[in-house]
Amino acid sequence: MGRVFVAGSINMDVVATADRHPRLGETVAGREVFYFPGGKGANQAVAAAKLGAATTLIGRVGTDAFGRDLRAFLEAQDVDLTLVRDTPEAHTGTAIITLANADNTIVVVPGANALVSAADVTMPSLAEGDVAVSQFEIPLSTVGIFFKRARAAGAATILNPAPALAFDRGLLDLVDILILNETELGLLAKAELRNTDDNARFVEAARSLQAGKDKVICVTLGKRGAVVLVNDEPLVIPGRAVKALDTTGAGDCFVGAVAAQLATGQSIRDALETANIAASICVQRMGAAPSMPTAAEVVAVRRG
Ligand code: ATP
Ligand code: RIB
Repeated sequence: MGRVFVAGSINMDVVATADRHPRLGETVAGREVFYFPGGKGANQAVAAAKLGAATTLIGRVGTDAFGRDLRAFLEAQDVDLTLVRDTPEAHTGTAIITLANADNTIVVVPGANALVSAADVTMPSLAEGDVAVSQFEIPLSTVGIFFKRARAAGAATILNPAPALAFDRGLLDLVDILILNETELGLLAKAELRNTDDNARFVEAARSLQAGKDKVICVTLGKRGAVVLVNDEPLVIPGRAVKALDTTGAGDCFVGAVAAQLATGQSIRDALETANIAASICVQRMGAAPSMPTAAEVVAVRRG
């Protein structure tokens, strides 16, 4: 059984709920404020660990109260933190989130996440059967070095290129499984995509990204589920009809779940089905990292 290694961001999410989002320049009264553990790296690591994969997180926090709280939370979720470094010269990453009608806006201030370095990602002893996961809330150069190392060790690589940023072909070539939403795909494929487009549009855009046919490209489409290219064949994973309360971290749950399933020897199709179920559970709860489901919860849904 392989391990999951996630190199990524660790944030405190400061969440204000309101009846509606303010317009530019407007102030609206909020309802509640929450401090939820988050950050794409931490969320994906928690999702993988709760689904039963041995999971190591690589990242940085500040030597402040948010950093200490996040460490305590992550430890309690069985995420291995031996490669998370305290960084006195920067504050812990912080995301300011407004949540209204189950939809969010996010401003992320990276702090210590911006200092995750090449040296940080050359520490883990990756091996064949392991899965290396990363995203774009740490420096892109660090992600590239991490994936080169993972590839050299025979580990599989999963990139979630979020938040959407342009990046070069060299990094894409180091990726086995690309998991992205329609905005991120649109930027990469230089296509105008909307989540109301039909599946064929996403398949066409995903196909334009790969020279060979060996990469898995998974486009997550919120409540519509996902459209995936596996061996260049389109596969549709229909979304589950649930009442979403807070979709923050749904994409991270999906990514962490795919990584956990692959590390524990499941096929890519089974991994994607499980991820879709896990993410549909996540959206029914408040917060990012705290809303990741356990393996038992996913099995209960699968059994109906
Ligand atoms: P975020 O940035 O909020 O983490 P994302 O844009 O990266 O999200 P989405 O495509 O919105 O990711 O969602 C990821 C997955 O979560 C979907 O593919 C689906 O499996 C599940 N999901 C999201 N929203 C819903 C919903 N309303 N109902 C059921 N499943 C959902
Ligand atoms: O993907 C959701 C995450 O993005 C939040 O937890 C927030 O920290 C931002 O990084």
